[in-house]
Order: sequence, then structure tokens, then C-alpha cells
Amino acid sequence: MAFSGRIALVTGGGSGIGRAVCRLLANEGAIVVAADLDHAAAQQTVSQLTDSSRGHLSVQCDVSSAASVKDCFASTIAQLSQPPTLLANVAGITQDSFIKKMTESQFDKVIQVNLKGTFLLTQALCHNLLSLADERGEAVPGAVVNVSSIVAKGGNMGQANYAASKAAVEALTKTAAKEFAKQGIRVNCVVPGFINTPMVKTVPEHLIAIATQMIPMKRTGEPQEVAEVIAFLLSDRASYMTGACVDVTGGLTGTM
Ligand code: CAA
Repeated sequence: MAFSGRIALVTGGGSGIGRAVCRLLANEGAIVVAADLDHAAAQQTVSQLTDSSRGHLSVQCDVSSAASVKDCFASTIAQLSQPPTLLANVAGITQDSFIKKMTESQFDKVIQVNLKGTFLLTQALCHNLLSLADERGEAVPGAVVNVSSIVAKGGNMGQANYAASKAAVEALTKTAAKEFAKQGIRVNCVVPGFINTPMVKTVPEHLIAIATQMIPMKRTGEPQEVAEVIAFLLSDRASYMTGACVDVTGGLTGTM
């Protein structure tokens, strides 16, 4: 049980990769806090987790709002008496459009959720762990895993906002890793390709067919396959990894 007794906060816990991460961490002994803008979806995730007596929680959280993130930590601490020490920043959105037609709101929304959300959650976790360390007089180890995308590497038509947000998530990951290494908090990142989630279901079928042809493994991935790598990076098995961005793409190294 890699996560016995550890509290793990998973944003985007109501669907897709986030839900798969919640399941995997619960199976490995964690107390899971599934956070999602859609509270009903997070509740549904929690209702499916193993060992409900452990006290898994669902929390409504808008990751793009500092106030909402603060409330999310406050309610976790109120109910579990401790802050999380593990964080998976999985919440993310797309608002695809060619640049010539992209609205300011489409651009801002994607940056706010994917980039600012990752920043706010990482900052809140680190604040909590550092104050706990001050109280206890010793470092409180923690781990964060962020979610980038293969499109961060080479861009993707129709995704200027999303690709930019994910490239920035990688830079944020590497910076946070440097800033918190001394305090025992590791920060890494997974780089998924095309994964069978509600997000990818919005892509027109003929474009998915083109993308699949480009994937060396000739198939899209499953949320569980990304969740396995996130769980590894959160675990002590990855104790000498920080600032790493790990591809989970079936071999895809870029898009058209
Ligand atoms: N590659 C190649 N051609 C593309 C393309 C792409 N990525 N995106 C659009 N095109 C082509 C279309 O096939 C179409 O060609 P034809 O005129 O020859 O038919 C042309 O560009 C115009 O496209 P649309 O008619 O679709 O234009 P639109 O304005 O109605 O819609 C769009 C634009 C919203 C960007 C739409 O094309 C779209 O949804 N594209 C998919 C974007 C995408 O790949 N999103 C990935 C989501 S999954 C994800 O984000 C997870 C992750 O991390 C990988």
C-alpha cells in the first residue's frame, strides 16, 4: 500500500484521468479528496472508491479561483484534521478554436483553469506543508504531479490557448521543483497524448483518425494508463525524481 494513511487531493476528480487517479490512489491506501467544479461528479467518484471507512471526501472547487482553492483546503483540514500531502493537478479544459476566431474569453478561461489553477493549488499545498513543518520542527514531505499535454511540445491546430497553457504548466513544474526541493516537496509532470476522456470526445472523428495514425502504438490511451504514471510519481518509488515531465503518449512525440 504505497499511500497508506496519506491524504491525496485530486483536482478534476469527477471524470477522466482525475477519476482514474482517485481510484488508483484509494486502492493503494490513500484517503482521497476528489475536487471538481461539478460536485455531483466528484461525489460519484467518491461513492465508487474502495474502503469508504477511510473517509474519502468530495469537494466542490473552482481551481481558477483563489478563494475557492482556499475553501477546498479549509474544508479538507476541517474534516480530516490534516492538509493533503499529495496533490494531482488534473483539472483542465479545452476551448478549441483557430487563432483568427479565438475570443479573449476562450483564451483567458483556458489559461485560468489550466495554468493559474495549477499554480494556485501547488501554492496552497506548499503553504500548508511549510506551516505544518514549522509547527512540527521537521520537514513534511509532499509530492505534486501536474498534467501537461503532448501539444505543449509542438503546438496543435485549434489549440493556441491550450497548448500555451500546457507548455507553461511544464515551466511551472520545473520552477516549483527547484523552489521546494529543499523542503522535501517533489513536483513532477505527466505529458499525456490522446487519452479516451470526455475532453478528447469533443474532437471531430476524422481528426482523431489522423492522430491515431500518427501514434506509434496505433491507439489512443486509457485514463488508467496515465493514472498509473501519476501514482508512481506521487509515490516514494519516485523519491529521486523532481522537475521531470514524463510522456504517456503511446510513442507520439508531436502533432501535425
Ligand atoms: N489537424 C489537421 N487539420 C485540421 C486540424 C488538425 N488538428 N484541425 C482542423 N483541421 C482542418 C479540418 O479538417 C478542416 O479541413 P477541411 O476544410 O479540409 O475540411 C479545416 O481544418 C477547418 O476545420 P473545421 O471545419 O473543424 O473548423 P472549425 O472552425 O469549425 O473548428 C476547431 C475548428 C474547433 C479547431 C476544430 O477543427 C477542432 O475541434 N479541431 C480539433 C482540435 C484538437 O485537436 N483538439 C484536441 C483536443 S484533445 C486534447 O486537448 C487533449 C490533449 O491534451 C491532447
